[in-house]
Amino acid sequence: MWSNRWLFVLAAAGSAVGLGNLWRFPYITGENGGGAFVLIYLICIALVGIPIMMAEVLIGREGRQSPVNSMRSLTQQHHRHRAWVLVGWMGVVAGFLILSFYAVIAGWALKYVFSMAGGGFAGASGDQAVAAFDQFLGSPWEMLLWHTLFMALVVFIISRGVVAGLETAVRWLMPLLFVLLAVLVGYGVTSGGFAQGVDFMFGLEWGKLTGAGLFDALGHAFFTLSLGMGAIMAYGAYVPSSVSITNTVVTIAVLDTLVALAAGLAIFPVVFANGLEPGQGPGLMFVTVPLAFGQMPLGALFGTLFFLLVGFAAITSAISLTEPALAYFVEQRNVKRSKAAAGIGVVCWLLGVGTVLSFNEWADVHLLGQMTFFDLLDYFTQNILLPLGGLFIALFAAYALPKAVLKHQLGIKTALSEKGWLLLAGVVAPLGVLAVFLVTIIGLDNIRAWLS
Ligand code: PFF
Repeated sequence: MWSNRWLFVLAAAGSAVGLGNLWRFPYITGENGGGAFVLIYLICIALVGIPIMMAEVLIGREGRQSPVNSMRSLTQQHHRHRAWVLVGWMGVVAGFLILSFYAVIAGWALKYVFSMAGGGFAGASGDQAVAAFDQFLGSPWEMLLWHTLFMALVVFIISRGVVAGLETAVRWLMPLLFVLLAVLVGYGVTSGGFAQGVDFMFGLEWGKLTGAGLFDALGHAFFTLSLGMGAIMAYGAYVPSSVSITNTVVTIAVLDTLVALAAGLAIFPVVFANGLEPGQGPGLMFVTVPLAFGQMPLGALFGTLFFLLVGFAAITSAISLTEPALAYFVEQRNVKRSKAAAGIGVVCWLLGVGTVLSFNEWADVHLLGQMTFFDLLDYFTQNILLPLGGLFIALFAAYALPKAVLKHQLGIKTALSEKGWLLLAGVVAPLGVLAVFLVTIIGLDNIRAWLS
């Protein structure tokens, strides 16, 4: 069990804050045209993410086991349908799929630790930064090397049991990451592109929002808060009963959102000051951040540190991606922790090779329309698996668990707050997910056409 409230906050924040905030949020914001997308994302965090995160923590704390077994014992105890256990299994699968590409991108960050340390970006131009990244993407063997290194680190850490290392990592490195982000935002202010960057991120141009953008905003809200696959549920199993779930969850969600917004405010000014393309895709952070540090005094030092911290943020998230599967194997199958960790590592590593290749050798292999292997994994996990998982988790918490359990877990004392929570978790959040699915299926343009 986490020894105190802060330990859980730190672990959950370590899970939430990661590549999703620093790498993915800026680049999908760029691809989706900025402001309107950001607003939808914020709404998804508040109305869908927070209630579902509360549901995950409370199910985990009530079940006190791995997500699969927590769902199993709660359904048995309260005489619910066995099918609810599938939610736990979906999470295990999602964890494997996500880790497989997460480790590849985290490998990019490790590579950039060394690139920055080498000082190669001092005074670089936008074109040079783009070319350096493209060259890296073009070398599958090099990518494979960093991907392997990252995966090995994760396996090493999780096979030793996580809490001790996690706590130190998050307690010291996360604040340091915030400081460096602040330095980058400060640089953005002086870069000459700040006003344009802010305008891009917060200017509401509804015309730029597409159905795909709406779908991405929802999926990203799940991804960035680590929701819908049991990671937070698995951590919830270790939360002492004295901790307030509501306060904790709101704290984590706010923190996570601030980091994402700061990353955007660090990156977009650089994009506009250097005439780069905001919608250039997954390379965005790897082009803009070296560029910014390259133009600063002590930039090589700060830049090295920055990518090191990105790597750490990625490790604490990757650890949580494995926790639902790892906890299950250890408690149910009596497998040794180190064996289970190695098994997870090998499977995810193998799948990850597909992602490595989709940036070079397989860049022209398209599945389901225009998607590469990586695009497909990313889309299937974030836009479909996580929201579906989250939908069922919310429904389970709101309707399958007895009200007494909810009240006890959430410390609800008044009928009004009980109603309020049930409204959020049982109606608003599920309808939010369903509405976005529906709009995606029908097509936002068709809906606009009918409305006008
Ligand atoms: N929340 C992490 C990030 O933003 O990078 C990614 C993640 C971790 C997603 C754990 C899902 C998960 F279960």
